Amino acid sequence: MLRKEVNDLLTRTGHGTAMGEMFRQYWVPALLAEELPEDDCPPVRVKLFSERLLAFRDSRGRHGLIDEFCAHRGVSLWFGRNEEGGLRCPYHGWKYDVTGQCVEVPSEPEESGFCRKIKLKGYPLIKIGDVLWTHMGDPANRPPHPEWEFATVAPEQTFTSKRWQESNWLQAMEGGIDSSHVTWLHSGSLKTDPLFRGARGNRYNQGDLKPHFEVVEADGGLFIGARRNAEDGKYYWRITPWVMPSFTMVPPRGDHPVHGHFWVPIDDENCWAWSFDYHPVRPLTREERKAMQDGFGVHCKYTPGTYRPRANKDNDYLMDRAAQRRGETYSGVEGIAIQDASLQESMGPIVDRTKENLVSTDNGIIMARHRLRKAAEALRDTGETPPGVDPAHQKVRSAAVVLPPDQAFVEACKEDLKVRPGVKQSSV
Ligand code: FES
Ligand SMILES: [Fe+2]
Repeated sequence: MLRKEVNDLLTRTGHGTAMGEMFRQYWVPALLAEELPEDDCPPVRVKLFSERLLAFRDSRGRHGLIDEFCAHRGVSLWFGRNEEGGLRCPYHGWKYDVTGQCVEVPSEPEESGFCRKIKLKGYPLIKIGDVLWTHMGDPANRPPHPEWEFATVAPEQTFTSKRWQESNWLQAMEGGIDSSHVTWLHSGSLKTDPLFRGARGNRYNQGDLKPHFEVVEADGGLFIGARRNAEDGKYYWRITPWVMPSFTMVPPRGDHPVHGHFWVPIDDENCWAWSFDYHPVRPLTREERKAMQDGFGVHCKYTPGTYRPRANKDNDYLMDRAAQRRGETYSGVEGIAIQDASLQESMGPIVDRTKENLVSTDNGIIMARHRLRKAAEALRDTGETPPGVDPAHQKVRSAAVVLPPDQAFVEACKEDLKVRPGVKQSSV
């Protein structure tokens, strides 16, 4: 359990909060590139860390993320006209470029230079992989561009989606490092999901319901190892890297693409669950890509025209008690992503961690909270750059291996847990 002050510290990410300032040290996913598909396309509302922003792409293909509201009298620029190298407020015609600089105030004499004094808040927006990334911290302290493997492999090897989750980011992220729930909540999907089924490892998952956890510190965060019994006294290890503040990778299954997540706060009671799938050495097959687009694996089906899942809290996640009884799904909710979302949203917008009772399988969560708190306080008190900002920390992989009983996973899997260009993921 956590004291209330610590729960507040870890879950609040608005301006001026310790965790909010820490998140602003990183390049974070802001939008899918597909949301701004062409020059001068409609602008998109984006809320991140409780700031209301607007993303747009100008006539020259430049991307920008600026304050949503006009500096004149506060109109939402979502209603603006995106044309001729900028976004023009439809109320009185003030115009802004992708940096938020006002470039025209039609009512004022041009020689007055008035517009040059007006600047909206603006953040960079860069495309790497299928994602537009932003950095909302001090420009003087802007880190090198992100180098996550899923975003830097060839486009035909990778697929990214996002879904709106109606809960605080931390309880969502904690689900990503809690590998013990897979045996229960996702047991039906392991057998049927086209992006999971058929791997030898699935048998070990189902065969040992009492995994033993070992958590090891890494430069950027943690490696969380879950050990289950395999044959001949050997152990099946599933190793999940967590890189601060909110990146995780699910251990692979067979030759299926490897998936993982980012959880990015929208505000304190909502977050984006980003989900990616990639294969380090081969293009995704047509069937795999289709399954991802159709919402299988870690992806989901949407309410048309939105990134809100079709199964959501307003329809009780399309709970099917008959399918639950028949054993097709363990919880009655279909799909891995929505199985997670339904339970994490059921905890309430910000779960009260003063009331929980943690057990040994929660060690990864306990250590992650501790690292987050330490790093946020070190940044606040001494200006220390948090782990995970350095691209070297981002070059990690998950792994699923069978090891003899006397081998520590962190030694035996040293190479497996690094990005190795041209080398396949380690998986059973
Ligand atoms: S409110 Fe935008 S130009 Fe007047
Ligand atoms: Fe899950």
